Amino acid sequence: MQRRQFIRLTGGGVVLGATAGLSACDTSLPAEALQAWSPPADGPDVRHWLLAHAILAPHSHNLQSWRVDLSVPDQITLFIDLDRLLPETDPFSRQMMMSQGTFLELLDMAARHKGLRADIELFPEGAFGPKTLDGRPTARVRLAPDASIQSEPLFQQIFLRRTNREAYEDRPPQAVALTSIEKSVEPHPIRVGFVGTDQPGLLRRHRAIAMDAWRIEMETSRTILESYKVLRIGPKEIAQHRDGIAVNAPLLRAIDALGLFDRTVAPAPDSMAVTSQVKDFNAKLATTPAFFFMVTEGNDRATQVTAGRAYARAQLVATAHGLSMHPLQQALQEYPEQAEPYADIHRLLEAPSPRFTVQMWSRLGYAPAVGHAPRRRLDAFILPGRG
Ligand SMILES: Cc1cc2nc3c(=O)[nH]c(=O)nc-3n(C[C@H](O)[C@H](O)[C@H](O)COP(=O)(O)O)c2cc1C
Repeated sequence: MQRRQFIRLTGGGVVLGATAGLSACDTSLPAEALQAWSPPADGPDVRHWLLAHAILAPHSHNLQSWRVDLSVPDQITLFIDLDRLLPETDPFSRQMMMSQGTFLELLDMAARHKGLRADIELFPEGAFGPKTLDGRPTARVRLAPDASIQSEPLFQQIFLRRTNREAYEDRPPQAVALTSIEKSVEPHPIRVGFVGTDQPGLLRRHRAIAMDAWRIEMETSRTILESYKVLRIGPKEIAQHRDGIAVNAPLLRAIDALGLFDRTVAPAPDSMAVTSQVKDFNAKLATTPAFFFMVTEGNDRATQVTAGRAYARAQLVATAHGLSMHPLQQALQEYPEQAEPYADIHRLLEAPSPRFTVQMWSRLGYAPAVGHAPRRRLDAFILPGRG
């Protein structure tokens, strides 16, 4: 192998390794990319304050696909940005719909905090079909003061929540936390469950499926390239985009600055770029003390949005109990190469497809604190001329 190529592949491996543990360097992210994580001030239009909370929701690949129309007073119409989809890894945009749901859940919590009732009408102009999305709204939210509205204690966790991809400590989540997570999802028709160290055989099978699915994603050119497209390396790119997967480790920045990491070329499956990433992930999975999962009956668009709402609640409860979550969507993804892990996880969770869909599967445990992920400026989410 030529020296230049070796360095390039090595660089790719390191970059990907850091992506899995990207939060390790989050503290040094440029301040403007993290501005959204400072609680907002009140302003003349309460909807801006509500949105400042909603955009802190988790979103697959941190794509922040939310667009809002504020042209009707006391109303927020939510659209999905069709330029922010993941056609390779999320071909039917299931995770995108979930990520609309996480936003709506946080919006609802923020409204309650202000004594507002948020009437959320999903798909007011009709739901998208099962395969593709279009320009119709995902939701219309009507806001009205309501003295009977109850505040939501989970609101307090919004600024503390983070996705944590670090290695988790070797101790099981406390039972009281699991009960709270389960209860938090009760408003929605979703089956949730956990597997932990008290079921070692089952835990091993969860780990094995997750490892397999991750390896497949890394070895499939078009899916790894889709992640490369949203990598933001170094302060300049991170500050410029404020979305995607932020990586700020000095070595990676240097490799990238030297032009030695070509993000348009997929690394070979046996290259260090892939094998080091697989090794890193396997090590984290091998010590993961618990998994959390959510299963729905049916998989229509409203169900997907609802699953997102439920996941947001579950992760906020976990946060309140000092627990971390790290979604593992690879085996749940609907592209052909994942067919086997997809079938395996559905079988393991007694959720025969297509009647049932595993919407979320996540590592769960205690982990060292990590920094926040970037968010764009609030005005970037408001449709031009509809503010
Ligand atoms: C539907 C959905 C799927 C996700 N899938 C993954 C995943 O497979 N792997 C992962 O590391 N993070 C996943 N995430 C977490 C996002 O990457 C994360 O929310 C985003 O990077 C923003 O970071 P934050 O949650 O710390 O604010 C997912 C989040 C959602 C809502």
